[in-house]
Amino acid sequence: MIPTRQEAERLLREAESCNPGPWGNHSRVAARCAEKIAEACEGMDPEKAYVLGLLHDIGRKFGVRHLGHVSDGYSYMMSLGYDEAARICLTHSFNNFDTDEYIGKFDTTDGELKLIRSELRKVVPDDYDRLIQLCDSLAGSEGVMNIEDRMNDVKRRYGRYPQPKWDSNLGLKAYFEEKVQKSIYDVTEKDTFRLPGSGRIMSLPLLYRAGQQGRFGTRTGFSWGSITDALFVYLDGEPEPESAAEVDARYRVRPLVCLTGAWKAYIEARYPGAKVYRRTQMKPANRFTLPETPAIPEGCRLAGMDGAAFGKHPFSHGINYPSWDAFRAEGSGAVVYRGSEIVASASSFLSLDGELELDVSTAEGCRGMHLATACVSRMLRDCMERGFTVHWDAQNDISRHLARKFGFEAETEYPVYWLPEKD
Ligand SMILES: [Fe+2]
Repeated sequence: MIPTRQEAERLLREAESCNPGPWGNHSRVAARCAEKIAEACEGMDPEKAYVLGLLHDIGRKFGVRHLGHVSDGYSYMMSLGYDEAARICLTHSFNNFDTDEYIGKFDTTDGELKLIRSELRKVVPDDYDRLIQLCDSLAGSEGVMNIEDRMNDVKRRYGRYPQPKWDSNLGLKAYFEEKVQKSIYDVTEKDTFRLPGSGRIMSLPLLYRAGQQGRFGTRTGFSWGSITDALFVYLDGEPEPESAAEVDARYRVRPLVCLTGAWKAYIEARYPGAKVYRRTQMKPANRFTLPETPAIPEGCRLAGMDGAAFGKHPFSHGINYPSWDAFRAEGSGAVVYRGSEIVASASSFLSLDGELELDVSTAEGCRGMHLATACVSRMLRDCMERGFTVHWDAQNDISRHLARKFGFEAETEYPVYWLPEKD
C-alpha cells in the first residue's frame, strides 16, 4: 500500500519541518524524475513512481543519520501501513542488495542493521526499486544532474564509491533508456527543468556559465551545490558543511555572489560583518540604441581593437583570449588613443558561443570626457553587425547610466559580499 500523492506531499512537508535540509527538494526532484520515466515506460504507474520517489528519504525526518535513515524510513512507513513505500526506503540505498556497499556511516544499532538485512533479503527487486535507485542518483536539490557528476561528488566527499554501485547506476540508466528508447536526460528534462521555488535569485551570469562548462575559472561540485570561481565566486545550490568550510577557508577576500536564496541567507547569518556592494545585472541584448558618437577631445583617436591594441592588453582587456586570432574571431572591442597611449577601452571580457561580457575602462585623469561612451558605441555597433549577444554587469551608477544610454534595461540588482578576513 502507498499513500495518495497529496498525503505523500504532506508527509514530506511535515518531515522537512522536523529536519530541514536540501534532502526535501532532492526528494521532490527524484519524484518528478520517477514520474516522467514511468510515464514513458509501458506498464508502469507514474503516480506510484512519484509517491515512492517523494518518500524514499522520508527517514531523514528523524534527524541527520546515514544508514540510520534507511531503517528510520522503513519503520516509519510500516507504522503508517505503507509497506510499498517502506520497501523503497530500504531498497533505494542498495542497488545490489548488499549492505556493504552503503557509502555513508554505519550509524545504526545492531537491531536496526539486522532489520535492514533481514527485510532486504525478502525483497525480489522490481522496476520500482530500480527506478528510485536511478532517480536517487540523478536528483539534485534544484534539478536533474549528470549521473557521473553526482557520483563523483559523493566519491570526493566520502573518499570512495564502490565500483559495483557505480556500474549498477550506469546499468540502471541504460536499462531504462532501453525501455523508453530515449536518453534519460531528455525524458527527465535535465537541461530545462528547475524545481519551482528552489530559490534561484538571479539568472545565470555568463561568467558562471563559462565556469560551469569548464571554459573559465574553476568549479567545485558538492552534493547540493557548487562553488564556481570565475572572477566572482558564485555560490549555487544550497550550502552544506563541506562547501561552507571551503568558503570560509578559501574565499574570504573574494567577491562572493549568491545565486540562490539559501546561500544568501547563510552568508548573511554566518558573516554579519561582511561588506556588501550592490551591482546590477542588465538584461543581455543584441540590439542597441547607438547615440551619435560624442565628440572626443582633440589629440584623441577612436579605433577598433586591432592586433596592435590587443597586444598591449590595455587595462588587462583581452587577457582571457588565448590569442589575437581567437579574439578577432569571437571577441569585440574599441579603444581611444591619446598619442600612442590607450586611455580608454571597451572590450569583451570573454566569449561563450556568440555571447560576450562587456568590460569598459578609462584611464584616471581622462574621465568625464565621453571616452567610454565612444568606445562602447563603436564596440556595440560591431557586436550588432556580427550578431553577438552582450552581457553588461554594472558595478556602479555610472556604469548603469552608461548601459541605459545604449538601451540596456536593468534585470536584477544583487549584492556582492566580501567576508571579513577573520572573525
Ligand atoms: Fe535520496
